[in-house]
Formats: sequence, structure tokens, C-alpha cells
Amino acid sequence: MIVDLRSDTLTRPTPGMRQAMAAADVGDDVYGEDPTINALEERVAGLFGHDSAVFVPSGTMGNQICLRLVVPAAGELLCDADAHVVTYEHGGAAQHGGIQSRTYQGGLATVEGVARELRPAGWGTVPTAAVSVEQTHNRGGGAVHSLEVLTGLRELTLANGALLHCDGARIWNAHVASGVPLDAYGSLFDTLSVCLSKGLGAPVGSVVVCSAELATEARVLRKRLGGGMRQAGVLAAAGLYALDQHVERLAEDHARAARLGAALGVTTETNIVPITVPDARAFADAARSEGVLLGVVGPHRVRAVVHLDVDDDGIDHAIKALPPLVHALSA
Ligand SMILES: Cc1ncc(COP(=O)(O)O)c(C=O)c1O
Repeated sequence: MIVDLRSDTLTRPTPGMRQAMAAADVGDDVYGEDPTINALEERVAGLFGHDSAVFVPSGTMGNQICLRLVVPAAGELLCDADAHVVTYEHGGAAQHGGIQSRTYQGGLATVEGVARELRPAGWGTVPTAAVSVEQTHNRGGGAVHSLEVLTGLRELTLANGALLHCDGARIWNAHVASGVPLDAYGSLFDTLSVCLSKGLGAPVGSVVVCSAELATEARVLRKRLGGGMRQAGVLAAAGLYALDQHVERLAEDHARAARLGAALGVTTETNIVPITVPDARAFADAARSEGVLLGVVGPHRVRAVVHLDVDDDGIDHAIKALPPLVHALSA
């Protein structure tokens, strides 16, 4: 048996999702004429309580567009050192937007920690134009930023003339785990990039959520980056299907992750089980030979990510295979 826990991006569309994709009504979205994309954008904007939304091919493009909406060229982005936007986006903010990034300690943000680093205008410094926060935090093991912290960050950024961006690749997991309504999250951010292709199981697609004014600019940036798609309603249909069918079921992924976490002595909050080992590569190789595929996220860190294509049998298999390996390879 092979259980693939490398990432929740690995899901394949279900038969129901494929049917919805095949039946999608489409048009040319660069002309604004794809009815399924228009419906998806309206739906996602409404869920987060914003005026507008823009469908984009990937979470990376969503983030990159948002960063340019909130930080001018030569302006400063502040985020944590493990954030996807500075770790896995290949310097896109610098290259595309001329944005300089400064980081604080990796992992979940605290209001005090961000306040220490945030630079208001004046004294010859480059002021912080925007702060970016990940919800959930990917390298932080799927941990959820609390509403209290996010509200504090909102107050802090407002008080200092900075904007607030959310890399919400897994904000659906945060919503289901915490019970915080999506529009409560939405109300705290100027821009959000939310992914349909992670826990929700769509094959492609993310959505930029923002004001109507910023959305007009986002469409220009999307086109400039080559992300203007044509009859992509077939993809948006997968996203709409996922919103109907795959949000509440994330609780099942969280329960399975918790079961695997308990077997390894690790606490989990959502669908990611972070595992600390002396040699991450050796551990992942040993796990692979037992039929368990893990993601390597650092020299001493692997992760098991639970998703739509992982069932109870898969978790049982991982629970049998991994604890003895932790014991053997930590000795
Ligand atoms: C936190 C986070 N943000 C953004 C992305 C980028 O998404 P994509 O792979 O669709 O570009 C990912 C991808 O896994 C992610 O984990």
C-alpha cells in the first residue's frame, strides 16, 4: 500500500467534480464573459465579505498579485521567515514588483513580534507598506492564527499606515478548525489569496479577494503575468463544486491528522502533521520504503499532510509504519 502524505496539492478531481467541469458553461474570461468564472468570483468575494474577487491559475500568482497591490515598488513587505511568499515563490516579489522583503522569526505571528519589526514612515527608513500573514501556517505545521492575533495585527497595521495581506492557501482549514466565519477573516485583510487546489481538492485555481478598485488593478497584473485565461470556466466549475462539497469535510482530514499526530506524540491543529527528526531526508526515504510518502520541509523536519485522497486505511498504514521509524532513526 502507498499512502501519499507529501502535500494536499496532490488530490485528483473526484468523479462528481469532473462531471461539474464537463458541464460548465464557458466564455472568454479575458473579455469578462465566462459565466462560471464570474459566478465563482462573486461567490468567493461574498464568502469573505469583500466587493470583488479575481480567479487566478495558482496560489503563487494570487500572492504575487496581492503583494503588488499592497506594496509599491521599492516598498517593504514584512512577513515571517518561513512564509511561502519569501520561501517558495522564487523571489517573485523582488523580481516582479521590485518589493523588498524583511522577515521576523519564522512561524505564527504575534502582535508584539510584528510591532517590534514594523517600521513606520520617517527617520530615513523604508516604511513597511504591508504585512503578510499565512492562514494556516504551512511550515508552521498547519497552525491557525487566532482571531485575536489577526485583529491585533489589523489594528497595528492600520495605526501605522500599512496594509495587511493574507496568504490564505489553507484558510478553509482554519475556518473549519476554529469555527471563525470566513467573512470575519475577510474583514481583517486588504487582500487575500485563497486556494481551491489544496484541501478543497480542485485541480487548479486560486482566488484573489479584495476591493473593486484593487480588483481592476489585479486583472491588469494577472494579464501582465500571463495569467489571463480564456474558457477557464471548466476550472472554476471545479472550484464551485469544491465550495459546495469539500469545505465541511475538511474536519475529516483534521481528525485523521490528529489520529496520526497522537501516534507520533505531535499536536495538530488542522491537516498537517509536523515531524521533527535528526535527518529529514533519511527519514523520508525510510518512510517511502514502507509505502508512506512524506514532504521534506527542512533538514530536521518532515510533514505528513492529510487530504481528500487519504482515507482511514491510509492513516492506519502510516500509524503502523512511522512510529517505529521515528524510534529507530532518532536513536
Ligand atoms: C501557504 C501557501 N501559499 C501559497 C502556495 C502556492 O500555491 P500554488 O502551488 O498553487 O502556487 C502554497 C502551495 O502549496 C502554500 O502552501
